[in-house]
Amino acid sequence: MNIGIFDSGIGGITLLHQALLTLPKENYLFYADVDHVPYGTKTRQQVIEYVDEVIGFMVEHDCKAVVIACNTATSAAAALMREKYQIPIIGIEPAVKPAVEQHSGKRVMVVATPLTVREEKLKNLVARVDSEHLVDLLALPRLVGFAEAGEFDTPEVEQYLREELAPFDLENYSELVLGCTHFNYFKDSFAKIFKNRIRMIDGSEGTVNQLKRVLEQNNQLEDNEGSVQYFESGREIVSAEGLERIAKLHRRLDEMKKL
Ligand code: DGL
Repeated sequence: MNIGIFDSGIGGITLLHQALLTLPKENYLFYADVDHVPYGTKTRQQVIEYVDEVIGFMVEHDCKAVVIACNTATSAAAALMREKYQIPIIGIEPAVKPAVEQHSGKRVMVVATPLTVREEKLKNLVARVDSEHLVDLLALPRLVGFAEAGEFDTPEVEQYLREELAPFDLENYSELVLGCTHFNYFKDSFAKIFKNRIRMIDGSEGTVNQLKRVLEQNNQLEDNEGSVQYFESGREIVSAEGLERIAKLHRRLDEMKKL
């Protein structure tokens, strides 16, 4: 059977990348909902409808578990989808807890999409773990568009980030939580602007560990050759050009992982 991993777009490849390291002998179905990207600037109800359609597709395509590799979709729709579907649904969330635990006396910045920042799920998480009031939230919606356009370390990206971060005294921060999977592609720009004084953390590793635990508990780990099928809103990517575009994203994530 397959493990379904999805996002609104290429951000979810960051989670697939981690899953391939931790569980290489599984068959994956990766789904980027490019017809509806971005999710982060839509309403909660719209995102629920998109996510429902994707999970329905995954159930039809022999998935034994689904990973929501999108913080926005998790915050808007995960609880409802768990009520509707029988298969395990694991959702990525901003890694606020580990960031607060390792904050070394300084502040923690959480960057995410506008919908994630607005939703109760993140507010509740921060209220639960941030007893010292160290966390600041910032929405960075334009990074999703930059990523989808394949624009990563350009002067426009740097200028956008500098403008959005201008109101904050960056020296006060030791942790940066990447609360949107698309943001992992910009670790070099964040590192430059924060002058390498921050640790960047995202929820991919924790989510994949949770996936592994669930499959172990259900006795569903497999020992295959390992494969990935890529879909864009239900259409399989089969062209050499399309697959090379994805291979390039994996190579960029390899580079970003070193930061
Ligand atoms: N990658 C998604 C996340 O982790 C959201 C991107 C979007 O706005 O579609 O939140």
